[in-house]
Amino acid sequence: MNQRALLHLLADGRFHSGQDLADAIGVSRSAVWKQVRALQERLGLNVMAVPGRGYRLDSALEVLDAARIRDAIGQDQLAKLEALDLLDCIDSTNIRALEAPPERVGRGRVWLAEHQTAGRGRRGRQWVSSYGRNLYLSFAWRFDLPMADLAGLSLAAGTVVAEVLAELGSREHHLKWPNDVLVGEAKLGGILVEVAGEATGPVVAVVGIGLNLDLDGAEVSAIDQPWTDWLRAVCAPISRNRLAALLTDGLTRACETFAAERLGPFIERWSQYDRLREQGVVLISPQQRVEGRYQGIARDGAIRIATTEGLREYHAGEVSLRRSVVV
Ligand code: BTN
Repeated sequence: MNQRALLHLLADGRFHSGQDLADAIGVSRSAVWKQVRALQERLGLNVMAVPGRGYRLDSALEVLDAARIRDAIGQDQLAKLEALDLLDCIDSTNIRALEAPPERVGRGRVWLAEHQTAGRGRRGRQWVSSYGRNLYLSFAWRFDLPMADLAGLSLAAGTVVAEVLAELGSREHHLKWPNDVLVGEAKLGGILVEVAGEATGPVVAVVGIGLNLDLDGAEVSAIDQPWTDWLRAVCAPISRNRLAALLTDGLTRACETFAAERLGPFIERWSQYDRLREQGVVLISPQQRVEGRYQGIARDGAIRIATTEGLREYHAGEVSLRRSVVV
């Protein structure tokens, strides 16, 4: 039986009798019961079973819906995409995108998942990816550019994310170099860009975006950094389908601009969301620790720091950036 069909029926958060569910999907009531247990055990969803009333999810969820996402993407942008794939459970949308043969990516292609079992974060971290309430999107784009020219693409992607969140009503978020989406010091989302192809090009860049929208108690215990989510930060509902559509539309435009002009057109837009400017920062890498005053980003995506030895630029990779604490 199609588990997703059952989930679609339960997604409204209301009671449905076992018989109605069985009739709608064309299976027995005991098959419904088995699938309900699978939703609980395998996907961690909380389904209440009340004798005489039936089953209901503890709260409604908006399942990803390809038609709704497509409808909300501009026609011109949609036409540039080879496909938009919705997956239920996957190890990682970035892995799926990186493994796709280039001819299946076309100019661009999108993968979205309800749940990732091995979501990847920056610097080898895990990205906690519970079922159905957050956003996990990988956007692949083919660039006829040398790989080195893609430095800074994650900042262009960050600009898109920040602008889309603002369009959907958030006033609190900002960007922290290279690709954190924060509210205060707490992580609302992150971007992981991974690249496949020849050093001299063409290359397929995969922009992986994870956004916390509605984290629940069980999953947050696995997060090893300060976190927040959309519901806590913005205190208003958000449509995952609209969010996915706006991101896809924005990333398509951004990748075309980036291919033609690199990071230049994004620097001012990115800086609108950058709260660190002129602040004291510490940059830490396995090789060094640099203290200085943050001076924004360079045209190749490097960070600029005024140190006692002059203005220095550093690239993302195994570096992390902290606001320095004055005591
Ligand atoms: C970060 O560490 O800040 C980056 C997190 C990126 C997570 C997203 S979720 C969709 C895509 N698939 C992955 O496995 N990772 C990215």
